[in-house]
Amino acid sequence: MKIADLDTPVLLVDRAALARNIARMQQMAAQAGIAYRPHAKAHKSPVIAEMQLAAGAVGQCCAKLGEAEVMVAGGVRDILITTPVVGRGKLSRLMNLVNEARVAVVTDSSANVGDLARAAQTAGRPIDVLIEVDVGQGRCGVRPGAAAGALAAEIADQKWLRFQGLQGYQGALQMVGSAAERRAKVQDALAKLLESAEAVKSRGIPVAVLTGGGTGSSAIDCALHGLTELQPGSYIFMDSKYAAIEWEGANRVPFDTALTVLGTVISKPAADHAIVDVGMKAASGDGGPLAPVDPANGTFSFAGDEHGHLRFTGACPLEIGAQVRFIPSHCDTTVNLYDQYVVVEGDDVVDVWDIPARGRVQ
Ligand SMILES: Cc1ncc(COP(=O)(O)O)c(C=O)c1O
Repeated sequence: MKIADLDTPVLLVDRAALARNIARMQQMAAQAGIAYRPHAKAHKSPVIAEMQLAAGAVGQCCAKLGEAEVMVAGGVRDILITTPVVGRGKLSRLMNLVNEARVAVVTDSSANVGDLARAAQTAGRPIDVLIEVDVGQGRCGVRPGAAAGALAAEIADQKWLRFQGLQGYQGALQMVGSAAERRAKVQDALAKLLESAEAVKSRGIPVAVLTGGGTGSSAIDCALHGLTELQPGSYIFMDSKYAAIEWEGANRVPFDTALTVLGTVISKPAADHAIVDVGMKAASGDGGPLAPVDPANGTFSFAGDEHGHLRFTGACPLEIGAQVRFIPSHCDTTVNLYDQYVVVEGDDVVDVWDIPARGRVQ
């Protein structure tokens, strides 16, 4: 089958570009001696997790327990859940997972530490726990320094919890356009994480893992050698926002676009204006408008749930029925809209992969 034969809108993955991206990030982490634990929140697919593991990843990160359940069912045996797991029902699901795979979880409160310890005791299985430190995001996480030491001591006192280390992830700095500014912010965030690690160690508690980092900080994280684990997600696909950031020492970001949404022109209200069948149900708009690939000179804007505008400064070169590929502005939220990836090489459709963790927000 050819791409031209596909019904649209449809989510395409370029297999060769995906494989190149996985190999590049793995190589970057390996050269720095940092373990590579990519984030499944971007792909939500055990097939892609398996490709990352085959390349040398030590496991997967998951944002939600529901994602982790899908990854374990798909054969992944080592997972870090990077968001606190809260609530009796979820803690019982978590302990079910711990029976099947090594699943570690982050926490940032005494209340949650107590609940985790009780759930682990009831299940009769210890669980690995990391403390999330707020290194600048202003989201979850204890304050850097003494607070991390105090919570680590509480975890170390619990028989059914095994303290592993610290997570410090700052999403807001990942897409800082200027490479120099991003580097300064990454250094600042790392300093907060290292200060927290010292506070834990000063209590005689070892810190085995320091995890964090994303696509935008990956090269800087590798150069700084502060983290023991790297958790990038978007690099496998590269959305248009990420592709636009400056990359130190290179004229472009060293990862290729591997994810596109294919749409079709369904109407031409004016000579310079086409309507495509890609609206907000087929691509997320939280990162801004989509970037058309070919013709690249069109300007896309959402025209509602099912429609998109494609406007040109001159005559629109597309006829009704023509296909158009778009680069999503935010890959994670776009992938979350689809049940399947259609895998392509050149003009050929070569495979279809399910996305079983899409919508697994609980
Ligand atoms: C905790 C955590 N780690 C890692 C990542 C991956 O970051 P990126 O997609 O920028 O590579 C994210 C993304 O939101 C995240 O929330």
